[in-house]
Amino acid sequence: MERTLSIVKPDGVKKNIIGEVIKRFEKNGLKVVGLKLANLSKKEAEGFYAVHKSRPFFESLTGFMSSGPVALMVLSGDNAIKKVRDLMGATDPKNAAPGTIRKDFADSIEANIVHGSDGPDTAAFEIPYFFNALEIFE
Ligand code: CMP
Repeated sequence: MERTLSIVKPDGVKKNIIGEVIKRFEKNGLKVVGLKLANLSKKEAEGFYAVHKSRPFFESLTGFMSSGPVALMVLSGDNAIKKVRDLMGATDPKNAAPGTIRKDFADSIEANIVHGSDGPDTAAFEIPYFFNALEIFE
C-alpha cells in the first residue's frame, strides 16, 4: 500500500466536480483515507509549491491556488502515486490522453483541475503538510 496527496484545485471546486474526481480515483482501486476543504493562504500555497520557487509561473500558480477553496485528500492503494498521475493525465491538458481528468475538464496548464504527488519523496512532504496522523484513517 502506498499513499499520495491529491488536491482538487480551485477551478475543480468551482466546476463542482470534486465528486467526479473522487469517483475516478475510487473506481480505480484507490481509497480516500483523508479528506478536507481548505482555502489556502498565499503563504501556505508558496510553502506547498516551494520546489517551484524559481520558476516563472510560481507567482501566478500560488495566487491561483489561494484564490478559492480546494479539496485536499490522502489516497491509499497499490501503486497509488502512479495510478493518480495516470488518471490525472499530463500537466498541460493539451497533451493529456483521452479519458484523463485533465483532458476531460482542464482549461489550461495552470487551471488543470487536480494535483497529485509526483513521487514518494514528494508524497512524504505533501501529506503531512496538510494532514496530521489523527486525520488519516486506514
Ligand atoms: P501541479 O501538478 O499542481 O504542479 C505544479 C503546477 O504548476 C502544475 O500542476 C501546473 O498547474 C502549474 N504550472 C503552471 N505553469 C506551468 C508550466 N509552464 N509548467 C509546469 N507546471 C506549470
